[in-house]
Amino acid sequence: MTILTILTYPDPRLRIKAQPVTTFDADILTTVEDMFETMRESGGIGLAATQVNVHKRIFVMDVSEDRDQPYTLINPEIIEREGKQFEGEGCLSVVEAYDKVERALKVRVRAQDADGKPIELTAEGLMAACIQHELDHLEGVLFVDHLSRLKQERIRKKATKLAKA
Ligand code: NI
Repeated sequence: MTILTILTYPDPRLRIKAQPVTTFDADILTTVEDMFETMRESGGIGLAATQVNVHKRIFVMDVSEDRDQPYTLINPEIIEREGKQFEGEGCLSVVEAYDKVERALKVRVRAQDADGKPIELTAEGLMAACIQHELDHLEGVLFVDHLSRLKQERIRKKATKLAKA
């Protein structure tokens, strides 16, 4: 397994819209394994392919305390949303930024696993927020885009400074 390089904001490649996965081959399995390894190494709960410069509709997540409930979601689609939550979020691609984002409290998702098998799952709370956050990545959207202009500007300046340091 390989630890992949995570793109950091404001890298323009984070804005590329991911393409659907049509062939479930060994390359996809390798990408998924490397993404899990990279996510674990970084201490994240979710990672979208976009963040490792692979522009395919894939994300991995594990929001469990013991990091033993991994999910691979390929070509994910939210088919139901319910309620609202407003909780703090961070992102492996946005260093040192953490802020509250409004998300649906509960979502139902339809996707495929790494073998292309259809799956459906219902998630609530943190897992639901994670799914919405990762799906945003596949659309080229970052959690900071949901914040006020002023906050975005502040985060962008800080990120640019950190990148130069
Ligand atoms: Ni993120």
